[in-house]
This record gives sequence, structure tokens and C-alpha cells, in this order.
Amino acid sequence: MPLPATIFKPPFSITRMSHAVFQVGDLAASRDFYLEVLGMAISDESADTIWLRGLEEGCHHSLVLKRGAPGCQRVGFRVLMEEDLDLVAAHFSAAGLPTQWVEVPYQSRTLHTVDPVGTPLEFCVSMEVRPRLFHHVERYRGASVQRADHVQVLTPGVALALQFYMGMGFRLSEYVQPDDAPDPVFVFLQRKGNPHDVVFANRGTLQLHHIAYTVPDSAALIHTAELMVRRGEGDRVEFGPARHFSPGLARFLYIRDPDGHRIELFPSHYQTMDVEDAPVRWSPEEFRIGGWQEPPQRWLDEAMSFV
Ligand SMILES: [Fe+2]
Repeated sequence: MPLPATIFKPPFSITRMSHAVFQVGDLAASRDFYLEVLGMAISDESADTIWLRGLEEGCHHSLVLKRGAPGCQRVGFRVLMEEDLDLVAAHFSAAGLPTQWVEVPYQSRTLHTVDPVGTPLEFCVSMEVRPRLFHHVERYRGASVQRADHVQVLTPGVALALQFYMGMGFRLSEYVQPDDAPDPVFVFLQRKGNPHDVVFANRGTLQLHHIAYTVPDSAALIHTAELMVRRGEGDRVEFGPARHFSPGLARFLYIRDPDGHRIELFPSHYQTMDVEDAPVRWSPEEFRIGGWQEPPQRWLDEAMSFV
């Protein structure tokens, strides 16, 4: 199929990928990992839940850890205004997808729904605010993650996801498509003006491959890898530090949390938002995931289930 047309002025405004909700088997072990290795700040915690934010984030949380069988419960997006939330709900309903209004702690009115490939989603307008901490250098620990940037979802329905998300005003920044393939097999979609908020990659079953956080600089990638080795967690330093010599083009490190959830760390992305920013096509031959490293097999084979 031809690439869907870009909708520059969609009828509602989704602003960005905002947060994810993970279930973790050992809340204390995860608390230690996300504080000491990722360097995140705790906004609140209860007996069963920890709400975390990066040092740059003024919103209440970009990652929620809940005690439970490991996996990802949901991916969260933000919309600009209250009326956008109702329009998003109507858009999903019109597509025959389930919608439900729910109360979620620290978030404004929240919509639960599912995209056409089955990704469990939630949308809200706002959250409680907390102080941004990026200038508090005394709080920097481990990776000192700054903010959540994107998620990658694996699905057999990449073309369907591409059509649906571009229909909501997401812009295609980059994509991979073999010459003989009718559709892209890897698509990078964005709303916030850098290469991606959500990535869909071709795989047999629906899974979450990773959530990505920004770090202050490239040295943080090496420091995080070294820290995990010193902590006896070297087996969970999965891939990198290296550079994507293909979509995104960023330096990166992939690590796994105590339950195996994959987190990508990277220092920066380029800006893409102007009207002439057209989708960039890559062939599989050009698609060198790790630049100077081949990805380990488990990076290709393993991912998180939605629970
Ligand atoms: Fe990524």
C-alpha cells in the first residue's frame, strides 16, 4: 500500500507518549534498581505501587511499578486539552474499539482503550506536578534519566498500526521497507517533534520491546553499564553502548530491569517537525541496528508481554 497521507492538522491533539505501567515481581528489588541504576525520582509510593519520574520531568510519573506478574499493563499518551480527550474517545469508538473512563491516581480524567493491534492504552490531559530536578546535580545517580521518550511495540500488524496512528495525526519520521515488500515492516511515529513517540516493528505476537529514556550525555551510557557490572548485574547489560546507524541515529544502551523489562537509554534525538520533513525510507541492507555491534539474539527474540 502507499504510505498514508500525513495529517498536519488532526481534529484532536495527542501531544506525546507519556508513561507506562509495569508489573514487577519484587517491588523492593525494582525500587532499588530504578533509583540507583536509572537514577529516577519517586513521586509517591504505597505498599503495592511506586510512581517514578525522570529528573527533567515535572509531571507526576512516567513509569508506574505495580506489584504483580511481570509485564506491561499499559502505555500512556497525553492530549492537549479536555475536549481532545473526548474526541480521542469518539475516534476509538468509531473504529469499533473499546473505551472506558477510569479514575487513575495523580492523573486527570483518564480514557482506557486498545489500539487496532491490541496495545492497551490510556490517555489523559494532565497529572499532578512535582518539582523538576535536573538542576539538582546532587540528585544525579546512575544513568540520571531525564525523561521518557518513546516505546517500541512488536506486532504482526505494522501496516494496520501505521494507518491508524497516522490517522490520528502521528507523523512518520522513518521506516524500513524491503524493495519487494508491499508495506513497511518497521515504522517510527511521532507527535512531539523528534523521531518517535511510538515505534511498531514486525513480530509474530504483540509485545512491548522497550521503553526509552533520555540521559544527560553519552558518558552516562558507559557509566550505567559499569555500574551494573559493579552491582553484579552485568548479565542485564544487554546491547551497547553503541550507535544506531539506521532509524533514529542515536547512541544507545539497552539494559534489563530485575524482571527483564527492557529499557533503552540514549542521550539525544534530532528535531523533525517542519512541513518539509518527509518520511525517511531505509532498506533492510541499510538497517544496521547496532552500527558497530550486532544485536545479541535475546535482544531480537525476547520482549515483554502485555498483562
Ligand atoms: Fe528505541
